[in-house]
Amino acid sequence: MGFDLLKGKRGIIFGALNDMSIAWKVAERAVEEGAQITLSNTPVACRMGEVVDLGKKLNAEIIPADATNVADLENVFAKSMEVLGGKIDFVLHSIGMSLNVRKKRVYHDLDYNYLNKTLDISAISFHKVLQVGFKMDAISEWGSVMALSYVAAQRTFYGYNDMADAKALLESIARSFGYIYGRERKVRVNTISQSPTVTTAGSGVKGIDGLIDFSERMSPLGNADAMDCANYCITMFSDLTRKVTMQNLFHDGGFSNVGMSLRAMTQYNKSFEQNDLKDMY
Ligand SMILES: NC(=O)c1ccc[n+]([C@@H]2O[C@H](COP(=O)([O-])OP(=O)(O)OC[C@H]3O[C@@H](n4cnc5c(N)ncnc54)[C@H](O)[C@@H]3O)[C@@H](O)[C@H]2O)c1
Repeated sequence: MGFDLLKGKRGIIFGALNDMSIAWKVAERAVEEGAQITLSNTPVACRMGEVVDLGKKLNAEIIPADATNVADLENVFAKSMEVLGGKIDFVLHSIGMSLNVRKKRVYHDLDYNYLNKTLDISAISFHKVLQVGFKMDAISEWGSVMALSYVAAQRTFYGYNDMADAKALLESIARSFGYIYGRERKVRVNTISQSPTVTTAGSGVKGIDGLIDFSERMSPLGNADAMDCANYCITMFSDLTRKVTMQNLFHDGGFSNVGMSLRAMTQYNKSFEQNDLKDMY
């Protein structure tokens, strides 16, 4: 059920690949809330993926773009303003990829060409989206631009690899550009630090099942799923959050602020009891 939170707003959603994608859910919820949107993804994802079905379902134009390519991004903004009939009110950057993760290169044996690609695709592309939007004056006053991050930007998580560095950069770009965009045009820029979520990008991370299980048990509210994340994005695109900018917003059931939980402590003590018992025999 919608609340018309985005009624009359125009948005661009980058990164819907299939119905597991966080961006897919955001696109569906945005339209449900009254927005008109365009969708963008890599040319290959647009040709081969399920994005075409989503575009039909939501009556949304699909504009292919490699998010590392500035000319492609200029085309996305120009076409979006043309088909939606005016400046853009919200943008979702839901893009991430690491060839080091894909090719199973560990953090102490990175391929630096891959690392450059990781940073360009997963973080610098966010700067490119913002800079193109700014130079084209394509985002309206009080517009909202969001990207998706992960707590590995602050703390080390086994297996997250060079994506941790990309997320740290992504969050820094939100602060640095958010200051300028807020000062000059009253546009908000934030990141949401989302729980581990079962998606195509998520499943590439080493030990993702263990990570999901661990944070599910450690978070007092449990993990936030893709639909929860979509709902949070909607509130961040809406006029209800006009003074929130330059923030990294944890959306993880409380995980990021838990040091030790009752459950984990009980399990920890139990493991010692079992070991002590073993020693006795
Ligand atoms: N799944 C998780 O556990 C999790 C947790 C926190 C944050 N995130 C972040 O959420 C975002 C969305 O990921 P997801 O989990 O929905 O997975 P996903 O695989 O559905 O989405 C990733 C998207 O990035 C797109 N992409 C890759 N390279 C691109 C390029 N050069 N140009 C344009 N698009 C490109 C892919 O085509 C895909 O649509 C990512 O930034 C991811 O890091 C995911």
